Amino acid sequence: MTITHEEKQSLIDLANEARRRAYVPYSRYPVGAALRTKSGRIYTGVNVENAAYPQTMCAERVAIFKAVSEGETEFEVIAVVTNNGGSPCGGCRQVMAEFGLETVVLFADGKGTLTKETTVNDLLPEAFTPKHLVTDH
Ligand code: THU
Repeated sequence: MTITHEEKQSLIDLANEARRRAYVPYSRYPVGAALRTKSGRIYTGVNVENAAYPQTMCAERVAIFKAVSEGETEFEVIAVVTNNGGSPCGGCRQVMAEFGLETVVLFADGKGTLTKETTVNDLLPEAFTPKHLVTDH
């Protein structure tokens, strides 16, 4: 599977646009994500904070949960945009890993410039995945 430069940029642009809708009254650190499934659908997400801080949800997980709740569980690529090209948190990496270690992950900054291209496998080596729950006892 190859993702063209144009496809990457359009996903980054969608994530950056979504980022404007981030609900971040506490951190003032808006994050936007755009996830493309293998079927070609795109789901965006933003971080949604809460006065009870731990109830905050990250942008990446919002995008993934939107996709899964629409019946989509096979992902190709996720773009994550922050002001400074920040990387996905450990919790989001774990949630990405659930749906495939080969998913491409793009980081971009607030100008929409790609700062890193990697995979879930590289972001979370030796991930705990559904296959670890399959035992033959
Ligand atoms: N955040 C995300 O949305 N994704 C990440 O992977 C890292 C952190 C959010 C959570 C919180 O709203 C803000 O960024 C600061 O931590």
